[in-house]
Amino acid sequence: MTIQQQVQTIRVRGLEKSYDKLDVLRGVDFDVARGSIFALLGSNGAGKTTVVKILSTLLKADAGAASINGFDVATQASEVRETISLTGQFAAVDEMLSGWENLVLVARLRHLDDPDLIADELLARFSLTDAGARKVSTYSGGMRRRLDIAMSLIGNPPVIFLDEPTTGLDPQARIEVWQTVKDLAEGGTTVLLTTQYLDEAEQLADRIAILHKGRIIVNGTLAELKQLLPPARVEYVEKQPTLEDVFLALVGSGAKDSATGNHRISEERP
Ligand SMILES: Nc1ncnc2c1ncn2[C@@H]1O[C@H](COP(=O)(O)OP(=O)(O)OP(=O)(O)O)[C@@H](O)[C@H]1O
Ligand SMILES: [Mg+2]
Repeated sequence: MTIQQQVQTIRVRGLEKSYDKLDVLRGVDFDVARGSIFALLGSNGAGKTTVVKILSTLLKADAGAASINGFDVATQASEVRETISLTGQFAAVDEMLSGWENLVLVARLRHLDDPDLIADELLARFSLTDAGARKVSTYSGGMRRRLDIAMSLIGNPPVIFLDEPTTGLDPQARIEVWQTVKDLAEGGTTVLLTTQYLDEAEQLADRIAILHKGRIIVNGTLAELKQLLPPARVEYVEKQPTLEDVFLALVGSGAKDSATGNHRISEERP
């Protein structure tokens, strides 16, 4: 590993947060290396969104410190905001506008040159070109989610937060989002995502941390986490397809869009 890869883009130390009498975070510590994917796992109500809100400067911690690219989230909030983008747990797209208009709007708000071109490129990258002129209110959940992620990439932020990026998506749309996230990290973007899905963390994350009762109870690579349990007994079983295998075989997966190289998803096929 080179020194460059060891640079910690996100540093979190001793984060505490309570809502009235409810102690949600009781001393959360972790680091995220530049260009890596870090998955924060936890049950409903564990405090994942609370961590993301603090790191994205939407909420103040009661104690502890966190920095993004060296900027303190509490005292250098505007620098942090220029470094990050957030795709929240609930889609932030405007239903009454088209996909293209949503993208142009955000590009204008960020004072970028050529918002129209940025919108066209992102629609193509997320296989939404054909739907680009339609109102978002007519989109499926997967299309909305991809548009939401596309919006968060405007301006090429080096750090992105994805709060439960695939909740509510069908298996094929989830794989689409996973590929998008992998591509981002390969391009050097640092990704912190939260999820309740263990397979999502397995598929995507370089490191996985489990948030439980206000603290990170384990933090490591998938291989390190698996070593926490005793070695599996060797058993001979007939390998049955999973329901997901069956679903994907029947509805088709991995159909590549020849123009963009992106995977197409079922709802866009005739
Ligand atoms: N503004 C608030 N006021 C009071 N309690 C809150 C507030 N926001 C969150 N909580 C509580 O804090 C706890 C953690 O919430 P949080 O949204 O961070 O959990 P989460 O891990 O993101 O859960 P989920 O998986 O359901 O999204 C929950 O018990 C929640 O009810
Ligand atoms: Mg949440």
